[in-house]
Amino acid sequence: MSFDAPTVIKTKRDGGRLSDAAIDWVIDAYTGGQIAEEQMSALLMAIFLRGMDADETARWTAAMMASGERLDFSDLLTVDKHSTGGVGDKITLPLVAVVAACGAAVPQASGRGLGHTGGTLDKLESIAGFTADLTNSQVRQQLRDVGAAIFAAGRLAPADAKLYALRDITGTVESLPLIASSVMSKKLAEGAGALVLDVKVGTGAFMTSEDRARELAHTMVRLGAAHGVPTHALLTDMNRPLGLTAGNALEVAEALDVLAGGGPPDVVELTVTLATEMLRLAGVDGRDPAQTLRDGTAMDRFRALIAAQGGDLSVPLPVGACSESVTAPRGGTMGDIDAMAVGMTAWRLGAGRSRPGERVQPGAGIRIHRRPGEPVAAGEPLFTLYTDTPERFPAAMAELDGGWSVGDVPPAPRPLVIDRITG
Ligand code: URA
Repeated sequence: MSFDAPTVIKTKRDGGRLSDAAIDWVIDAYTGGQIAEEQMSALLMAIFLRGMDADETARWTAAMMASGERLDFSDLLTVDKHSTGGVGDKITLPLVAVVAACGAAVPQASGRGLGHTGGTLDKLESIAGFTADLTNSQVRQQLRDVGAAIFAAGRLAPADAKLYALRDITGTVESLPLIASSVMSKKLAEGAGALVLDVKVGTGAFMTSEDRARELAHTMVRLGAAHGVPTHALLTDMNRPLGLTAGNALEVAEALDVLAGGGPPDVVELTVTLATEMLRLAGVDGRDPAQTLRDGTAMDRFRALIAAQGGDLSVPLPVGACSESVTAPRGGTMGDIDAMAVGMTAWRLGAGRSRPGERVQPGAGIRIHRRPGEPVAAGEPLFTLYTDTPERFPAAMAELDGGWSVGDVPPAPRPLVIDRITG
């Protein structure tokens, strides 16, 4: 059967189903460069608006998996986690080290920033010399020697790598079937023995409603099970940013604080909770993830991982050349801080991309000085914004405006982990 892009686009535009053969053709032809970017953009927007059913999503995922290599680590005890994307989400950095220190290996195929959310590779590349371009045998060797490797997902599910970059600049990120297939195609191709998903819900997440986030979690857990990979999901709050920083090098510094036994309590809590879930799913008993942060064994693993990938932590992390602060207009109590406002501020400062392949500024971002509920004195700095290009400040300040408040009463506490989905 022969296909052409305009017919496939019109089928989805008009609310039809894409057949298995049509999906296989689209993914294969797009990966091979036979479908133009503008045609794929139109199809993505049609999918964004019309959706895909469970069978279409499963086929789209399988076709993306089949577009590249599939790694096999069945001779090692491996487990991985993937987050659907949030603001200030640097959890992967301490997490892989904690899990490795507890005895399970983590093959972490990672991506770059998407929309207002940061990407693990962009963060790590703010460390001098760090490379995520590892060969398969380097990944395997590192899993044996260090217990973790963080590498560019590009060879796995290359269809996703192309689609991910296109979705980022065409307003088609926040689609349940596109997120589920994007995450699961690369994570299933990566060959980890088990998978834990951190499904974010809230203003700073791609799923803003709990119902949709829950549906996304169930879809991905089912896709994992269908491919024989035990998969659990945690639904976690993303109405507030995680920790006190958003931006590449700023987040690496905060991850190092956590690995040194300090750091913001929410980052520590989520790291330990996800590590516990990963170790349970991998069948590793009797290890206390929190202890590895206290006794320095997780930090040792992280340093070994960075060194194995060419990074030099003795070189100071970059800081944006220009900074501006936002000060408290009155005394009182810090109110809620909106995750989307903080994410968009960091993005406007240069921490993310607005064109494909654009270089991100490693030192750009935002530091939060007061957590929700903390006392605030009139005139004290609440946020510091960093960038190398000060002409970005007005737009960044405008994003932050209205995303926080100082009041008389502390905001209601929010549980960080909302639910656990296991099947
Ligand atoms: N993470 C991914 O890998 N893909 C998405 O689409 C969203 C988050």
